[in-house]
Amino acid sequence: MEKRVIRDPIHGYIHISEQLIWDLINTREFQRLRRIRQLGSTPVVFPSGTHTRQLHSLGAYEVARRMLEEVDDLKSALTEREKLCVLAAALLHDLGHAPFSHSFEAIMNCRHEDYTIRIILGPSEINDVLNNVDDRFAAEVASVIDHTHPNTILSQMISSQLDADRLDYLLRDSYCTGTAYGKVDLDRILRTMRVRDNTLAVKQSSIYTVESYIMSRYHMYWQVYFHPNSRSFDSILKSLFLRLKDLYREDKTVVEQYPMYKALLEKKWLSNEEFFMLDDDTCSYSFNLMRHSKDPVLRDLAVRIMDRHLFEYTSSENEEALTEACLRKGYDPRYYVVKDHQRQIPYLPYLGNDSDSIWLAMDNGELKELSEVSTVVGSLMDINEQDERVFYPREILK
Ligand code: NI
Repeated sequence: MEKRVIRDPIHGYIHISEQLIWDLINTREFQRLRRIRQLGSTPVVFPSGTHTRQLHSLGAYEVARRMLEEVDDLKSALTEREKLCVLAAALLHDLGHAPFSHSFEAIMNCRHEDYTIRIILGPSEINDVLNNVDDRFAAEVASVIDHTHPNTILSQMISSQLDADRLDYLLRDSYCTGTAYGKVDLDRILRTMRVRDNTLAVKQSSIYTVESYIMSRYHMYWQVYFHPNSRSFDSILKSLFLRLKDLYREDKTVVEQYPMYKALLEKKWLSNEEFFMLDDDTCSYSFNLMRHSKDPVLRDLAVRIMDRHLFEYTSSENEEALTEACLRKGYDPRYYVVKDHQRQIPYLPYLGNDSDSIWLAMDNGELKELSEVSTVVGSLMDINEQDERVFYPREILK
């Protein structure tokens, strides 16, 4: 086919020259990602961070495509079929994201990877398009995403500690939120990427570039992804769905008011068709309906979400006192005192799986794991930062 390009603020152009990739982009499941925001609740803190999963998916594809084009070792390490397979996997790796990104995983009690695999394996338009290659291809793409493909380089390219997914989201999330923490020297990483012993590595001379990437990731997590105000929003979201489920347990007819959540309330696993219907727009509409609910708790939580009346937060030591304050003021602590715990380890060393580490291709031909060579990364490994907070409405302390 004639080469197509899509404009993008991070990569300049996203280049598409395979008919398969173009057809995948034009499926309804991929287009759904236009209705899922990449950062869920982050825009309550960084209002410009409203970019979509679709844009990130195209970006991850573009980074994988550049790896294949610019890294000579990869050109020879992969067959043509494997190249097409890894491009498809990069494009499709986030298909299974529910609304509001990761916060919905707790509500649905599942991981987005599971739905990604289900959508790839069908029934879905994605599966139909993949079957145009042949009837084994969809399973091969899925195996790259769940790390079972026999050529482990493919999984390393799209999901390891230095991969197309992370390289795109750090650059994109930092650009779109207007923060300066996520800057990564993508050009240099690609220029110095090598394959040694069937392992993706970067040349020893790029050690400072990789150190800077680890620091960027570390700062993005604490400054953006785990920002307490966006966790406050997520706490309200969790309480709202907890309330909805409690109401449903008492009275099944509640689904008639919120038919978009029928499958979510009734069963553990949604069909691909049911999952397809859940997106950020559906949720916003449901919250607008809930503003008029007869139930005061559901109504209040929906207003808080829509109008950004966030919960306050404090250290988790105060949980008991807050629970008492809640009861005194007539608020049910089940929905109004929410504990949240986050933890981020800046860098994990080798744990028995090649894709768990970042490898340096040393000048003498050896492969060395990053923390063995970098004193900066070595010292970061002692950091195991945890943060536990309780979220509550400020009215209970008045
Ligand atoms: Ni991703």
